Amino acid sequence: MRAARFHTYGDPDVLIVDEAPEPHAGPNSVRIAVRAVSVNPIDYLLRAGALQAFLPLPLPAIPGRDAVGVIDEIGHGVTTARVGDLVFGLGGVSDTTAEFAVLTAWSAVPPEWTVEQAAAAGLASVTAAGAVDALGDLDGRTILIEGASGAVGSAAAQFALAAGARVIGTARPENHEHLTALGVVPTTYGPGLADRVAAIAPEGVRAAVHAAPSPSLPDLLAIVGDAARVVTVADKGAASKFGIRAVDAANDSALLERAADLGRRGLFSPRVDQVLPLASIAKAHELAAGGVGKVVVSVP
Ligand SMILES: NC(=O)c1ccc[n+]([C@@H]2O[C@H](COP(=O)([O-])OP(=O)(O)OC[C@H]3O[C@@H](n4cnc5c(N)ncnc54)[C@H](OP(=O)(O)O)[C@@H]3O)[C@@H](O)[C@H]2O)c1
Repeated sequence: MRAARFHTYGDPDVLIVDEAPEPHAGPNSVRIAVRAVSVNPIDYLLRAGALQAFLPLPLPAIPGRDAVGVIDEIGHGVTTARVGDLVFGLGGVSDTTAEFAVLTAWSAVPPEWTVEQAAAAGLASVTAAGAVDALGDLDGRTILIEGASGAVGSAAAQFALAAGARVIGTARPENHEHLTALGVVPTTYGPGLADRVAAIAPEGVRAAVHAAPSPSLPDLLAIVGDAARVVTVADKGAASKFGIRAVDAANDSALLERAADLGRRGLFSPRVDQVLPLASIAKAHELAAGGVGKVVVSVP
């Protein structure tokens, strides 16, 4: 099969499209004929070799953590999927940017989403759901999301709004219109955040989600005032230092189904900023790492 692969760790130009062995569905998994994948931070960090110490990949490696496609093989023990279903979901830590990929967690794509939005929904949904769930009941509460314009942050914002929260979200000014359209009160990140948040919510914020590659977790803790009501998906080091909960993505079909259900109800629309063909995989990684927003790669 055709697949994006890197034979050595390095810059985006180590990525090429070449021939790789086809995978097959193992127990409790499905194989899909891939239609599109998204580029997540873990993909370009793995390709660059930045995570080699604790997540070594056998090379050559196929990047990609999530995907959308049509099921063409069903593994032993799977009872909730049929060949021909269009599903989005998660594989392992890599291996989805190819003609065929194996998913261990998946859900049907809601008709309200484009294929590209479904490609962008997998990892962001389970990570955001884990973070929002960790904050408990949010109905009627004001919460702060650092990185609310990102894939995880915008999913967390929409999940929190669906749970009845008022959401203040940080982003660069160019992304504020997008946040307002979601129903989020936007502000910028960086110095002075506590004052800006206090001006928007003089009564204070109940909880915060840290969903940005930023050193701002201590600032969120100071704003909320209680480590038990702050959660990060992006800074385990500071989390353990300050007693803050760090949430990792779970390959959990129930979380994907919940995200899809919110999609069907018009309450969750995954963000997509750029769509590139498989042949442009190196450019896709370069753009995603450069902070252009959510990048999706179509796989013909
Ligand atoms: N633990 C896990 O399992 C897991 C899973 C997925 C992601 N993550 C991590 O979660 C983070 C977000 O992932 P993502 O996919 O949502 O990435 P993303 O789509 O690239 O979003 C990044 C977000 O961070 C904001 N940001 C950038 N620089 C910032 C700064 N200096 N201060 C505050 N905010 C800043 C961006 O805002 P603007 O674009 O508006 O500037 C954007 O909202 C990454 O660190 C990623 O590695 C962890």
